Amino acid sequence: PKLEYLLTETRGRVAVVTLHRPKALNALCNGLFVELNQVLREFDDNKDIGAIVITGSERAFAAGADIKEMKDRGFIENYAEDFLGHWTQITKIRKPTIAAVNGFALGGGCELAMMCDIIYAGDKAVFGQPEIKLGTIPGAGGTQRLVRAIGKSKAMEMCLTGSVNLTAEEAERAGLVSRVYPADQVVDEAIKTAEKIGNLSLPIVQMVKDAINQSFEVPLSGGLTFERRLFHSTFASKDQKEGMAAFAEKRKANFTHN
Ligand code: HXC
Repeated sequence: PKLEYLLTETRGRVAVVTLHRPKALNALCNGLFVELNQVLREFDDNKDIGAIVITGSERAFAAGADIKEMKDRGFIENYAEDFLGHWTQITKIRKPTIAAVNGFALGGGCELAMMCDIIYAGDKAVFGQPEIKLGTIPGAGGTQRLVRAIGKSKAMEMCLTGSVNLTAEEAERAGLVSRVYPADQVVDEAIKTAEKIGNLSLPIVQMVKDAINQSFEVPLSGGLTFERRLFHSTFASKDQKEGMAAFAEKRKANFTHN
């Protein structure tokens, strides 16, 4: 079926999903998110894909949830329908996701980026949580993932004022993004990293993602045990045998995702 709000392409083992609602700075309307969930699920299920890049336009990654679409909603319908609860489906994607952020990543846009595994930023990117200025609060991780990424004081300052934003450079310094590139290079760099990851053993890559995500959920002792058990289990894979044999034989490993 034709997509209204997204562009998708594949490059080798990398899928690139581009948010494409230019008239609204990629405001995340319901239709856009339904398509995003569907497309990500399809790439997650596609054996030929190893990693996924999510990006927007040069002007905006996404300027937040669609304010015009939600402004007249009521509490009861929000609660009954778990309004925007389906946004978290992105965090269930098992392949690595890289957000390549140019321009505005505000509100839900910042939260969407934070639901990805890695964030690369173009040098003009702006990260912010302006919800408080609309009389509401972040609803998809702005008060939770942001704290874990940049600490309490900066997260409080951003969410309480709604107007203190992070530049790309500040976001990198604070640990929200891993790298900053010139705006016109950030997508290519994200694809390069996704290719690197995509050529490694997919099940082992998934174990790394699971293990790191576990660190946000459990105390250190439990996370370390989880990690060690997964480490043990890698020895049941062909790719561990291949990877270590290739090292010993001084050749490049040829992973078969098994
Ligand atoms: C709906 C939006 C929008 C949004 C921009 N637009 N952001 N529409 N929802 N979040 C629309 C504008 O209405 C306008 O449409 C067009 O996009 C261009 O935007 P302008 O405002 O004209 O552009 P500019 O002057 O350059 O300002 C850019 C901006 C501003 C600073 C990013 O658009 C802005 O402040 N947007 C809202 C940011 C925000 O508050 N985000 C948080 C949303 S709440 P027209 O038709 O007039 O041309 C949220 C909650 C998440 O995200 C909860 C998750 C569970």
